[in-house]
Amino acid sequence: MLHRVIYASEAVGATGVSTISLAHILGAAEANNRRDAITASIMFHRGQILQALEGSRADLDRLMRRLLEDRRHTGLRILVDTPIADRALSEPISVCPDPDAILEKFGASEISRLTANEAEAILEFKAAA
Ligand SMILES: Cc1cc2nc3c(=O)[nH]c(=O)nc-3n(C[C@H](O)[C@H](O)[C@H](O)COP(=O)(O)O)c2cc1C
Repeated sequence: MLHRVIYASEAVGATGVSTISLAHILGAAEANNRRDAITASIMFHRGQILQALEGSRADLDRLMRRLLEDRRHTGLRILVDTPIADRALSEPISVCPDPDAILEKFGASEISRLTANEAEAILEFKAAA
């Protein structure tokens, strides 16, 4: 059985802003998520983070434990945690290319204002149409 978890958190320092910090996060996510058959998407916007994760319960729980201990972000709160029939995401990790456009499309000015339903609707970060 597949599950989807979507969480929001607050970046600490340059997390998600500096190229090196982004490279570290995406490097670990790419390797680990591929190993664990987790598909994921992530958005960095004005010091806030939104990440969607799909995979088996056990693998998601292990990843959430690592994420909760990771000091590069703080204030992690789960918005969505639900069983799913099919994946919406296909890559080990994909990064939202234009957070402003996506949030504007959903009438939200920032990640912290997203409802669970909105977070689930935007997880693929498709701005067009
Ligand atoms: C915002 C953010 C998102 C992350 N996303 C992932 C992820 O999708 N998959 C992953 O394995 N690690 C992710 N990490 C890193 C984990 O917190 C942790 O450092 C890493 O999984 C440890 O992997 P390692 O034991 O291979 O070093 C993320 C970290 C941050 C700060």
